[in-house]
Amino acid sequence: MKKHILIGITGSIAAFKIAQLVSDLVKLDYHVDVIMTKNATQFIAPMTFETLTKHKVYVDTFEREETFDVKHISLAKQADVVLVAPASANVIAKMAHGLADDMLTSTLLACTCPILVAPAMNVHMYENPVTQRNITLLKELKIQIIEPTTGRLACGDQGNGKLAPLPDLLQAIEIALSDKPLLGKKVLISAGPTIESIDPVRFISNHSSGKMGYHLAQQAKAMGADVTLVSGPVSLEAPYGVHIIDVTSALDMFEAIKKQAPQQDIIIKAAAVGDYRPTIYTTEKIKKKGETLSIECTQNPDILAYLGEHKKDHQILCGFAMETENLLEHATQKLKDKHCDLLIANNLFEEGAGFLKDTNVVTIIKKDSYQKLPMLSKKELSRSILYEIIALMEEKNVSCH
Ligand code: PMT
Repeated sequence: MKKHILIGITGSIAAFKIAQLVSDLVKLDYHVDVIMTKNATQFIAPMTFETLTKHKVYVDTFEREETFDVKHISLAKQADVVLVAPASANVIAKMAHGLADDMLTSTLLACTCPILVAPAMNVHMYENPVTQRNITLLKELKIQIIEPTTGRLACGDQGNGKLAPLPDLLQAIEIALSDKPLLGKKVLISAGPTIESIDPVRFISNHSSGKMGYHLAQQAKAMGADVTLVSGPVSLEAPYGVHIIDVTSALDMFEAIKKQAPQQDIIIKAAAVGDYRPTIYTTEKIKKKGETLSIECTQNPDILAYLGEHKKDHQILCGFAMETENLLEHATQKLKDKHCDLLIANNLFEEGAGFLKDTNVVTIIKKDSYQKLPMLSKKELSRSILYEIIALMEEKNVSCH
């Protein structure tokens, strides 16, 4: 059955951005209902949302309909999650004090599902102690605030008050809707490439985009985990609610992971770590001379092997293996050598697998079994990997929600 998402739109110029969010949610096959305040309809027409959702948009509590249900109650009952975005200072104030003087605020008062609020307003309105006090009241009521960002505001002022980016709103909705089997668990994930500098201009690296690791982090967060992502240089947006540590080289990644590892319940190493770095970093640009150039390299520490050696009893360690031949044989050897609980092996030459793509084709290898999965999106695959990990935790008798 489709999950029901209720979007409440209030009077803020950022209201126009919600059309894109609603369109994205409909494409993801959610049932989306929209309630607008009267002021919101000054910024964008209800027709836009009716066309996108194929459902009536509600503005007036007392509008008469053919059906005889009490609409603000039935919408509240059907909703699996509510997002108020953009949330004006006025509606935040009403919510904080239990006022229900229009269709949106009446419905919100009747909701028992999770409520998310994404403020958007002028910086001075946002920073006004009255608004801040109201936001604190909402937080105390377990209403989740999706914090605005800083930038140039529509009124021309500079400061905090811009609606959070749409991917953050989408992720916050998906997190609220998701089961939380990893609630209370700490998960460390590495993603992306490493960069090993030769001189101030050149470096050795690889083609990892970070997509695999970022999807894992996003899905672990959606499943309730407290997630830390150690990321090599990538051009992806940080997943919502995930603690990011940016690193450049394999040595940086090693230091960051060593510091984080002891506190973790689950560690997943999806990063493509450079096996070697130039032995000498040349501080000036290397000049062109001669037909060939040799660069002597030194081996980097094997971070996964270190984690395997220092693994705590309750920890689950999941490695990746990137192969171009004899996938099962090489990956099984890595599982053993690096003391992993499971290893996700992908063959770069397989259609739909490996670097950069939004899909992957993997074989999940455990100590005494393996399973090849069909081609999956990196998002779907991330959930499958995390459920494999949960099954292993249960086998190890480590409690999961
Ligand atoms: O980032 P994307 O574009 O989405 O691509 C995804 C991916 C192909 C990078 C990912 O699916 C993947 O396979 N990641 C592991 C890549 C890799 O380095 O594989 P490997 O077989 O060389 O290393 C085996 C394991 O040891 C990996 O978990 C790696 O993180 C780890 N390792 C390797 C070397 C090293 N010095 N330290 C390590 O920890």
